[in-house]
Amino acid sequence: MIKPLRKAVLPVAGLGTRFLPATKALAKEMLPVVDKPLIQYAIEEARAAGIELFCMITGRGKTALVEHFDIAYELETTLRERGKPDLLDQLRGTAMPPGSIVSVRQQVPLGLGHAIWCARAFVGDEPFAILLPDDLILSETPCLKQLAEVYHETGGNVVAALEVPRAQVSRYGILDVAEDKGRVVVARGMVEKPAVAAAPSNLAIIGRYILTPEVFTHLARFEKGAGGEIQLTDAIAKTIGSVPFHGVRFEGRRFDCGDKLGYLEAHVAFALKRPDLAPGVRAFLRTYCPDH
Ligand code: UTP
Repeated sequence: MIKPLRKAVLPVAGLGTRFLPATKALAKEMLPVVDKPLIQYAIEEARAAGIELFCMITGRGKTALVEHFDIAYELETTLRERGKPDLLDQLRGTAMPPGSIVSVRQQVPLGLGHAIWCARAFVGDEPFAILLPDDLILSETPCLKQLAEVYHETGGNVVAALEVPRAQVSRYGILDVAEDKGRVVVARGMVEKPAVAAAPSNLAIIGRYILTPEVFTHLARFEKGAGGEIQLTDAIAKTIGSVPFHGVRFEGRRFDCGDKLGYLEAHVAFALKRPDLAPGVRAFLRTYCPDH
């Protein structure tokens, strides 16, 4: 029987070195795109996929991430007194139902796999989603919902897959495809950050996963992989054979907001989707980049 998907883990304990000095005192996941921090996009996407329980894996200096989802009484009172109902509604949208969000500390950032292992008690014996908030996806149907629809058919492990230029495969976990069904692929393996010549395909895994708890058996071995980090990809690869494993070519555009160019692109793309901002942004781009 395929178990329902209720839980999500959001690892936010990374150091965000590519964004220094902005991330010296501010968590990367609190960086805004237009007017919402990255973490909020991730939580909203998860809720749209039916997730009810959330666990953030945080580290030192990340308390703002937890604060962001609390009730802000003073701010609410002030907005009420000043007659700003729209802003009040927006603010209320960030407060989570009581008991629906917890945070766990990853004391030392030993890698994504280790961050996920820190959520083992929260996950228990259930399937769970993972969202990396710095991967921001603009799509008609929220990306995790697309994965959840496949999960409810196939069960097992399901990951978001993206065709990347061959020259970029060494930045990603890459799928070894056993059967390509178009939107969905059956994978027989995967490799974290392979050399271009050794990559089994150009289908990269990006930051959305639905996993079954079997992965914790392998994470608990703390084996180091690429970059000397405990890699999630390696642990998932070890479940292949005992757990079905599918990649989903999702509909939508992914922005790597952990990278400066990706982050800037996300601002423009998301602003162009906003009726209040699109005309101004378009006019600005026309005058600022007249050749394009
Ligand atoms: P990244 O590879 O983007 O690393 O992590 P990073 O530290 O956040 O950023 P850079 O590369 O130094 O600029 C991918 C995701 O895994 C989390 C990060 O917070 C991010 O969401 N992560 C990574 C952890 O939670 N713990 C870790 O030990 C490593």
